[in-house]
Amino acid sequence: MTENILIAVAWPYANAEIHVGNLTGSHLPGDIVARYHRLKGNKVLMITGTDSHGTPVTMSADRLGKPVEEVYKSYHEGFIELFKQIGISYDLYTSTHTENHFKVSQTMFLALQKNGFLFTKVEPQWFSPGLKRFLPDRYIEGTCYICGDENARSDQCDKCGNVLDPTKLVNPRSKVAGDASSPELRETEHFYIDFSKLETDVKNYLKERAEHMRDTVLGESLRKIEAEGLKPRAITRDLDWGIPVPVAGWDGKCLYVWFEAVIGYLSAPIEWAQVAGQPEAWRDWWTNPAAKQFHFIGKDNIFFHTSLWPAELMGVGSAFMEIFAGEEVPLTLPYDVPANQFMNLEGKKISGSHNWGVWGRDALTRFDPDALRYYLTVNMPESKDSDWDWAEFVARNNNELVATWGNLANRVLAFCYKNWEGFVPNVDLSTLRDADLELLKTIENGFNIVGAELESVRLRSALGEAMKLATVVNVYLDVNAPWSAFKTDKDAAGKTVYTALKAIDSLKVMFSPFIPFTSERLHVFFGYETPLFGEQFTETVKDSLGEHTVLRYKGVEGLQWKPSDLKPGQKLNQPAPLFKKLEIDVIDVERGRLGK
Ligand code: MF3
Ligand code: ZN
Repeated sequence: MTENILIAVAWPYANAEIHVGNLTGSHLPGDIVARYHRLKGNKVLMITGTDSHGTPVTMSADRLGKPVEEVYKSYHEGFIELFKQIGISYDLYTSTHTENHFKVSQTMFLALQKNGFLFTKVEPQWFSPGLKRFLPDRYIEGTCYICGDENARSDQCDKCGNVLDPTKLVNPRSKVAGDASSPELRETEHFYIDFSKLETDVKNYLKERAEHMRDTVLGESLRKIEAEGLKPRAITRDLDWGIPVPVAGWDGKCLYVWFEAVIGYLSAPIEWAQVAGQPEAWRDWWTNPAAKQFHFIGKDNIFFHTSLWPAELMGVGSAFMEIFAGEEVPLTLPYDVPANQFMNLEGKKISGSHNWGVWGRDALTRFDPDALRYYLTVNMPESKDSDWDWAEFVARNNNELVATWGNLANRVLAFCYKNWEGFVPNVDLSTLRDADLELLKTIENGFNIVGAELESVRLRSALGEAMKLATVVNVYLDVNAPWSAFKTDKDAAGKTVYTALKAIDSLKVMFSPFIPFTSERLHVFFGYETPLFGEQFTETVKDSLGEHTVLRYKGVEGLQWKPSDLKPGQKLNQPAPLFKKLEIDVIDVERGRLGK
């Protein structure tokens, strides 16, 4: 049965370059699972986009002294470039600064209001007399009222580690460059969602998913609800950059970035359907209760995705569709949130300000995308934090990717291409020997083993299982040694070469979600004409907010997640090595770049 799979990835803030930790945390696992389900013939939609609103983005624009619009767009273009180069195959990569996202977010707000989940409250907030505007908590620093440290942020003190009540800060200062005025407290009104009304529903929702959710994710979410409960949260802010509150008299206020960014999981499919020319198609993932929605995120975002976003969706009930499309249909709730832990670098936390990082686009100027993808998968922080270590990167590339898999494929293909004049040996399949059949059976069963790991998003293990099978083929070749058998018994050598090629052809499919670029090349060496995957391309979309670039993906039809059906006598193409061995000095060179 075909399944409808939504792959929803955390929206990256437009305030920093994407590094290996971000890639292995969310974009890459999302891509691997998306590619797997496409090969299985499932209906996949993979989406996200640039989170272009919020304090992190406006702060970085302030720091650079440039308009926010310009800053978010330049990061956005860079992200798209990276995803194309490293093969993160979004069906739509958009941004939150689009007319469609504004409309969908405002409709969600109105639907929550209609269902009685919103209320307003007046509270004091820091105001800058110099700038004549309210300042977000992060823009205010001062003296901690608990430990007396003079450099506390208004909402948290790094010195004593306490979360602070911003209004109690002593000697407040504005962090906005050039603002020397002293902030003062002024009353301001905001909308809140009453999440407490949804607490029981959220708990039940999580417990229903206990069987397939990761312990790290489920445990943390339930513990937090038990300890703190689901409290009302403000969903508007005094800001001019963002999505206007859709209520008369609320000019100068915007929807809080966290409230609206998660709504992108709904607005992006709607935008995708429009640009793909099938305006209703988004419903396959959103009004179909059987659709499986996966959220690929980092551990810092767990609570928003496992608890607050489902609560928003339960809160709107069928009111969103009623306002949006005039039909009373509920929206589908997320199926799984396979959140990852963090990846460090050479034992330290990745940090932009200390230049302690491996940045995606920069790394791609020196390394092939599949070499990076391979190491990022074997080292994915699925259950605990992991570490990018340059020595290990080189070792794993050379010993596993090159030696175990790349050489296997290249050695058999090159030997066959030369000695069978560019064709797969024309063997009579009924004469294959027990050892040949046994190998093929083991490989065939690999589709179940690797597939089961991919279904449950255990990607390190999935890739490990595929690599184990490559080792089994290497052992088979050592035993049957076609290179020497060829001189005395070409017929026997032909059977071995045919069997090994067929195994490699199958392994190519199993490896392809992880290392799509080299798998696609290998696919061509085998002489196939329909590719494994589709193509990524960019497009410019225009709306009332202006123009924005989107990344898209044009897929190929058909089921490919199945054992090879390699035909004796099939015409091959000239093979070449798939991977590059890395020199040992790469380690020192790369380490030397850190922290500079
Ligand atoms: N931009 C935020 C972050 O990077 C939020 C990402 S997830 C979202 O942490 F769904 F809220 F967008
Ligand atoms: Zn303190």
